[in-house]
Amino acid sequence: MSTINVKVAAVEEVTPLIKHFRLESEDGADLPPFSGGSHIVVTMDAEGRTYRNPYSLMGSPSDTRAYHISVRRQESSRGGSVFMHERVQVGMRLKITHPVNLFSLSKLAHKHILIAGGIGITPFMSQIEDLKAVDADYELHYAFRSYEQAAFVNELEEKCEGKLYCYADSQNERIDLTELLRHQPLGTHVYVCGPSPMVVAVLETARNLGWPENNIHHEEFSAPPVGEPFKVQLARSGIEVEVPAEMSMLEAIEEAGVAADSLCRGGVCGRCELTVLETDGGIQHHDHYLSDSEKVSCRSIMPCVSRTKGKRLVVDL
Ligand code: FES
Repeated sequence: MSTINVKVAAVEEVTPLIKHFRLESEDGADLPPFSGGSHIVVTMDAEGRTYRNPYSLMGSPSDTRAYHISVRRQESSRGGSVFMHERVQVGMRLKITHPVNLFSLSKLAHKHILIAGGIGITPFMSQIEDLKAVDADYELHYAFRSYEQAAFVNELEEKCEGKLYCYADSQNERIDLTELLRHQPLGTHVYVCGPSPMVVAVLETARNLGWPENNIHHEEFSAPPVGEPFKVQLARSGIEVEVPAEMSMLEAIEEAGVAADSLCRGGVCGRCELTVLETDGGIQHHDHYLSDSEKVSCRSIMPCVSRTKGKRLVVDL
């Protein structure tokens, strides 16, 4: 995928766990246009290894002088978010991919219900700009741990003009998904971005209430889970790659210099799918792309998030 060289123009601490970064092109020219819900992948070179993490663009799509991303520090993850928090300073150069939108707003929707959990608020920040630009009917439901830890609440209150509903876990406030999704007019679309249990709950509730599949949209940017190290044999390339505990299989393949396709790097788009030729222990599927029966068959793996349960895997690459 082609990349863009950017410089970090500003870094701001939004909460003790969330930092906001303003990225501008190195030559000061406008950056490529994007639509609400798009993401970029940031490449980070850190002490002998490379992280590639996807982040949603939060700024207004009508302003391409800079891209805005926010990163939540995940201590338990493999290090990409820690690198962004500790090492990335104003003036530093980074490589990013062109924006891709895998979480776009439906142009046919009569109403949009946006549901965010924690840092999952970020894609909605740019989507709201798009919705406001066409005076669309929408509601934003934003759940977080506590008001002290919640990011961008004041900004959203101002932007959303009465269409923002907040739910703080610390105050036992919960979104009643059944109630929310049961009474929406025909032609409403629902969008969810947040932690996996929230995404699953929204998808299940909407499906159980009979929402058409085309009206349900989800995105989940979770760092690939860590796991046990294993070896992957790339049958066509004829090489064997070690996948360390804290690296995804996709990252290990890329690190070995083998070109592998990817887009979302979060187990959603299906672009990185590889055919499994052999496995000595089954697959730990962490994606939201393969169906349940495909997961059980263990014939495919999404290497951006999934791993083998065994010690060795052979894939068609
Ligand atoms: S890159 Fe999208 S599912 Fe792996």
